[in-house]
Amino acid sequence: MSGERTAETNSADPQGRIKENMDRMYRWTRHVYDTSRKYYLLGRDELIKALEPAEHEHVCEVGCGTARNLIKMARRYPLAYFYGLDVSDEMLKTARRTLKNARLTDTVRLKQGYAQNFDPAQLFGSQAAPLGKIVFSYALSIIPPWQESIDHALMLLPPGGKIHIVDFGGQEGLPGWFRTLLFWWLSLFHVHYKPEIFEYLKRLELEKAGTLTLKPIYRGYALYAVFTKA
Ligand SMILES: C[S@@+](CC[C@H](N)C(=O)[O-])C[C@H]1O[C@@H](n2cnc3c(N)ncnc32)[C@H](O)[C@@H]1O
Repeated sequence: MSGERTAETNSADPQGRIKENMDRMYRWTRHVYDTSRKYYLLGRDELIKALEPAEHEHVCEVGCGTARNLIKMARRYPLAYFYGLDVSDEMLKTARRTLKNARLTDTVRLKQGYAQNFDPAQLFGSQAAPLGKIVFSYALSIIPPWQESIDHALMLLPPGGKIHIVDFGGQEGLPGWFRTLLFWWLSLFHVHYKPEIFEYLKRLELEKAGTLTLKPIYRGYALYAVFTKA
């Protein structure tokens, strides 16, 4: 477990520090990530099912981790184009191997980059822009500049483009002891329930930046949000 903890680094560059921390966190755990996380990153398959990209639409998962979601998306929607971005080269090593095993290296493109300022055309080529959909699956709760990342995604999307988010909910429908245990467990990995993410999306809707649908799943274990840009 201690190998997963985010250690202090000496990097003076804040972005470099985020990358170093994530590389350190996932250097070893990436090998057991998919097996262990399937029990508690709930709602990812619901997001994939609801994604329904149009033919030839370009979809990017930000903080794609091991490419588990991208593989499922590419298999389910063979007529769309998929891109994955992650800050951690360590995670991307596993993602590349998994994609190769799934024979999807020509279908899904992966790059190292930062949620808060990536340029899809520069990373993936001009055909990737504009993206029609941007996915954050259990990523915003671990990304310190989560607000900038949402703003950046919105800036990249054309009107009608959608951000799909699944992340930890407030556990309202579950017993108090479960919530306490879960939040303690997540804190060991520097992951925190961030209600402010969903509050921010509501505020964006009030400001007429777009429309929001928000759905608790598994009795509030997770929240699934879709924000459609105005
Ligand atoms: C909890 S994992 C989720 C992985 C995957 N989305 C899933 O659902 O299985 C969060 C991922 O976000 C990445 N990440 C953290 N900060 C990031 C940032 N600023 N920009 C891009 N990716 C980031 C981490 O490296 C990690 O792979």
